[in-house]
Amino acid sequence: MMSLMKHLIIYAHPNPKSFNHALMETICTVYRAHGHSVTVRDLYAGKFQSVLMPSDFEAMAKGRIPEDILREQELIRASDCLTFVYPIWWAGQPAILKGYIDRVMLKGFAYDFTDKGVVGLLKGKKVAIINTTGSPESLYHENGMTKSMNQTSEQGIFGFCGMDVVAHRYFGAVPSVSQEQRQVMLAEVSKLVEKF
Ligand SMILES: Cc1cc2nc3c(=O)[nH]c(=O)nc-3n(C[C@H](O)[C@H](O)[C@H](O)COP(=O)(O)O)c2cc1C
Repeated sequence: MMSLMKHLIIYAHPNPKSFNHALMETICTVYRAHGHSVTVRDLYAGKFQSVLMPSDFEAMAKGRIPEDILREQELIRASDCLTFVYPIWWAGQPAILKGYIDRVMLKGFAYDFTDKGVVGLLKGKKVAIINTTGSPESLYHENGMTKSMNQTSEQGIFGFCGMDVVAHRYFGAVPSVSQEQRQVMLAEVSKLVEKF
């Protein structure tokens, strides 16, 4: 029997009617149907302050971590699996999510420097990344963009923090596909995440 997990979904899309929102809700439903606990961080709805500011550096220089960052770190610490749901914007994360990573994944929480080099401090946590693109999947596969984006996110961010990337799925050509194709994508994401 599968053990029950604590899931944290980190979702970044401004439009509650978007396909990304449908992906997030589908994933949430699957996790709950399997009895897992789920917390959703909807970064736009929560108006997450996503710019790493001079005041953040000033607080940290005095040994204080701002309250809103501590809250997010606590949620990550308490979870077994993080699922990121976001559209690809300019070949990467939407700024609000990039800013969440800048502000939350801090040294001493997500990674640290030791005699042996950098160590990830979030070992043991799983990460699933669900993305959508305007470009067709085949184009980004052929021109190397998928590989580049995999490296920056899987290795440059989550792997750096010691996390284990268990899935990274891109759904392509989302703005131009039919409703039926979107239903197929939602069915595919359900199947993908039901094992987490
Ligand atoms: C600011 C912005 C930047 C974008 N950059 C890219 C890009 O670099 N590559 C790409 O394939 N699509 C890009 N797109 C298209 C989105 O990825 C696409 O519209 C989205 O994944 C569709 O999902 P949605 O309907 O949930 O928004 C961009 C869209 C916006 C608004």
